[in-house]
Amino acid sequence: NRVINAAILGAGTVGGGVYKLAQAMEEDIFHKTGARLVIKKMLVRNVNKERKGIPSEILTDDWNSIINDPEIDIIVELMGGITPAKKYVIEALNAGKQVVTANKDLLAEYGEEVMSAAEKSGNDLQFEAAVAGAIPIIRPLKQSMAGNHITEVMGIVNGTTNYILTKMTEKGMDYADALAEATELGYAEADPTADVEGYDAGRKIAIMASIAFNSRVTFSQVYTEGITKISADDIRYAKEFGYVIKLLGVARNVDGQIEVKVHPMLIDENHPLATVKDAFNAVFVHGDAMDDAMFMGRGAGEMPTASAVMGDIIDVMRDIVCDCCGRIGCSCYKKLYVKKIEE
Ligand code: NAP
Ligand code: HSE
Repeated sequence: NRVINAAILGAGTVGGGVYKLAQAMEEDIFHKTGARLVIKKMLVRNVNKERKGIPSEILTDDWNSIINDPEIDIIVELMGGITPAKKYVIEALNAGKQVVTANKDLLAEYGEEVMSAAEKSGNDLQFEAAVAGAIPIIRPLKQSMAGNHITEVMGIVNGTTNYILTKMTEKGMDYADALAEATELGYAEADPTADVEGYDAGRKIAIMASIAFNSRVTFSQVYTEGITKISADDIRYAKEFGYVIKLLGVARNVDGQIEVKVHPMLIDENHPLATVKDAFNAVFVHGDAMDDAMFMGRGAGEMPTASAVMGDIIDVMRDIVCDCCGRIGCSCYKKLYVKKIEE
C-alpha cells in the first residue's frame, strides 16, 4: 500500500473540513488514487487550542518541522493571507512538494510569482477552492472551455454578501445580524471587510479573468464597491419594482480591452441570478463557440470548500502515483485505473 503524506497549513474552518473529509473518505481516496492519504501534520498558531476531531499530536506551530520532513509530499495551504502563506507556498514548491491552496488573496496579488515558482520547480499548484467554493470553475476555465475565445465571466462569487443580502431581502434582517450569522456559519473571511467591501469578490474575478482571457489581471486593477452602503430601504424599493440587489463580479474582454469590476446591481426577480440565495454562488461564462454556460453551487463554508480542496488533493495524488510520463497535469487513463487493476 503506497502512502502519500500531506501537511495542512491551517486548522480553521476549511482546514478542519479537509481533515474530516480525509478521514471520512479514506477508502474512497485509496480506490480513486491507488494510495493512502495520511494527514501527517497541521500547522496552527495556537497548538493548545482544542480542535474537535483533530488529534493534538499532529498539530504543530513549527513550519520547519513540515518543510524539512522528506516524507511529506503535499502541502495544503489553508491559512489565508499573504504573510507567511506566500513564503511557505514558494518554499514548498522549491522543496519538491506539490501544493494545493484556497488562498485567493495570494493568487490575486502574487499569482504570477507563485505560478512561476510552480513551473520552475515542475510541481503541481492547484487552487480550485480559491474561487466560488465547491463550484468547479478554475479547471473548466483552464481546460474544458479552453476551446473558446471567452469574452465574459460574471456572477455572484461571494457567499457572505449573498447570504447577507438574502436575509435582508427575505427576512427583513438587520445587516449586522446577517453578517454575524454568516461569520458564525464559517462563510466570512478572518477579516469580513474583504467580503462586505467587495475585495474578496474582486480577487476571485481577477483570478478568473486572468485564466479566461489568458492575461494578467491583479486585484489592484479591479474596481470594487461592496454592500456596506445598501440600506433596508434600497432593498425594499428594489423589491417593490420587481428587482433584487446582488453583488456581482464582472469581467469583460472587448477587443482586447479588459474591464473587471465588482459592484451591487439590480437584478430582475425572474433572472436566474435572482434565484441564487444564501451562500450559493453562480458564475456565467460566455465563449464564442459554446455560447453561455452557468455554474452554480455552494460558494463558501466548511464542507463545500473542503470538497474542492479534496478534489485537488486527489488530482495531485493521481499525478504522484501515475508514472506514465512524469508530466504534471497528465491525464492518461493509467492515472485513473492502473492501480485498481493491479490490486
Ligand atoms: P480560518 O478559519 O481563519 O483558519 C485559518 C487557520 O490558519 C487557523 O487554524 C490558524 O491557526 C491558521 N493560521 C493562520 N495564520 C497562521 C500562521 N501565521 N501560522 C500558523 N497558522 C496560521 O480560515 P478559513 O475560513 O479556514 O480560510 C482558510 C483559507 O481558505 C483562506 O485563504 C480563505 O480565503 C480560503 N477560503 C475560505 C472559505 C470559507 O468558506 N471559509 C472558502 C474558500 C476559500 P489558529 O487556529 O491557531 O489561529
Ligand atoms: N468569504 C468567502 C465568501 C469564502 O464568503 O465567499 C469563500 O471564498
